[in-house]
Amino acid sequence: MHNTSSSSIEFQNVSKNFGSFHALRNVSFDVKEGEIVGFLGPNGAGKTTAMRILSGFFPPTSGRVFVRGIDMSKHPHKAKRAIGYLPETVSLYPDMKVIEYFRFVAKLKGVPAHELNGHIRSKMSFCGLLDSGHRLIGRLSKGYRQRVGLAQVLVADPKVLVLDEPTTGLDPTQIKEIRELIRALGQNRAVILSTHILSEVSMLCSRVMMINQGQILANGTVPELASCLKDREAIHIKIKDKGDQARALKILREIPGVEALKVAEEVRGETFISFETSPERDLRPRIMKLFVEQGISLVEIQRLQLTLEDIFLGLLKDGKLGRRFP
Ligand SMILES: Nc1ncnc2c1ncn2[C@@H]1O[C@H](COP(=O)(O)OP(=O)(O)OP(=O)(O)O)[C@@H](O)[C@H]1O
Ligand SMILES: [Mg+2]
Repeated sequence: MHNTSSSSIEFQNVSKNFGSFHALRNVSFDVKEGEIVGFLGPNGAGKTTAMRILSGFFPPTSGRVFVRGIDMSKHPHKAKRAIGYLPETVSLYPDMKVIEYFRFVAKLKGVPAHELNGHIRSKMSFCGLLDSGHRLIGRLSKGYRQRVGLAQVLVADPKVLVLDEPTTGLDPTQIKEIRELIRALGQNRAVILSTHILSEVSMLCSRVMMINQGQILANGTVPELASCLKDREAIHIKIKDKGDQARALKILREIPGVEALKVAEEVRGETFISFETSPERDLRPRIMKLFVEQGISLVEIQRLQLTLEDIFLGLLKDGKLGRRFP
């Protein structure tokens, strides 16, 4: 037996192949009630694929998926009912009025007839759509269509929300509103959302999962991420003469605490070198001394705080960052 009772979403060794292409490789994770988990990854990473599997759109090639303890492969209808899914491209019915669409969705999701009007009204109100009930969906702006999509997710009060890039295409005011809606919804639900926006993750999510090429690279809480940022810094070095590059790298490689050493692009003959290290010791005086002794043309040396972008890019490049990220 599987212990799935405490998880709202559980992926166990899920893989998905499209022909010979591996879109998901052995993905395992879980999401509990009260969590908002951010799914972060570049284009083609597999986010939408994972979310489609979760919504019951198509089955995995192998592995198991549970929604509130319900096995998706054994009880697909029951599992799907527990989920509110906002697809990547919200396909609505352009010739329907907003209110008609909600009646249609509510009936489909089994909302009892006597509750229908009140139920729909509350979802429309929650998403700021009360004045738009009689508009044709096809004539709504993208932002309003996104709201209709989100309100549709809430029909029948699912406890698990799966939101594929919920803020894409919205203006800054709407983004803020939608984020607040999601934050409020996340308090007594399990939410998984995909995004490309790193700052969105720190604003909204309690946990982050980074995915690339169908594999989870990191899975940790935002405090864990923050401590990972706090304990690392980047040193950026600029040298004047490209001919000094090899010797500079040799010196840096031999200094304990220098990690993820790399040469960035050259600009106008100057070479940028960067590495990561712990901020406890300032390595700059030592580096300057060694460079001077060796006659290396150092023009700049800077300490910079590591950003979420650095973590993300570091993970994408090496599949790991130091040893600190969970
Ligand atoms: N039905 C399909 N048939 C074949 N390949 C597919 C299919 N669906 C997705 N893929 C491929 O699987 C990979 C993952 O796609 P997916 O849509 O999950 O990425 P994503 O992380 O959501 O990307 P984005 O950030 O661009 O939305 C891509 O290479 C995509 O081309
Ligand atoms: Mg996608």
